[in-house]
Amino acid sequence: MASNRVIGNRGCMPWKIPTELRRFRSTTLGHTVVMGRKTYESIGHALPGRTNIVLTSKVNYMAPGCIIARDLPSAIKICPEDENEMFVCGGGQLYKEALSIADRIYLSVIHREIAGDVFFPEVPSKIFQKISSEDHEDILSYTLSIYERVT
Ligand SMILES: NC(=O)c1ccc[n+]([C@@H]2O[C@H](COP(=O)([O-])OP(=O)(O)OC[C@H]3O[C@@H](n4cnc5c(N)ncnc54)[C@H](OP(=O)(O)O)[C@@H]3O)[C@@H](O)[C@H]2O)c1
Repeated sequence: MASNRVIGNRGCMPWKIPTELRRFRSTTLGHTVVMGRKTYESIGHALPGRTNIVLTSKVNYMAPGCIIARDLPSAIKICPEDENEMFVCGGGQLYKEALSIADRIYLSVIHREIAGDVFFPEVPSKIFQKISSEDHEDILSYTLSIYERVT
């Protein structure tokens, strides 16, 4: 997210940061990714090398290479039995919902404000504790922090 919590603008991600995209790929590769229908449409295809689950209330929605689920609990049930880390990868609506059940948050914060219309929710400090933080320099500088659920 940007420093003003923006994560999206007009259905797209407002930036492309190569090192951050590579980190997202390497962290999620081989795992299950869950995304909202609007995020799937902004990407336009399934993410290769991962089990893709798209959430939508639409009947007969087609997303080639993806499994469709009606809600987050159904997506968790669909998740392969041997999965040890399932990633919720947006957008704003889904992040908000997933925060109540997430065990870990990988959060990159860009060091400037960016205009947009979709936001990352506040991370409740009583529930999540920051366990690591790394600064990165790229097209835009950013800090990647990892938070874990306290209880
Ligand atoms: N910066 C980042 O890291 C990042 C990451 C991902 C996305 N984004 C950006 O975020 C924006 C999209 O976010 P958004 O909040 O507008 O949409 P979104 O969360 O991607 O998708 C919302 C849609 O997903 C479905 N959905 C979500 N929760 C559901 C639930 N619990 N049960 C059933 N269906 C559910 C619904 O689809 P139906 O309407 O079909 O029922 C809903 O309209 C885009 O601009 C995208 O580029 C940014």
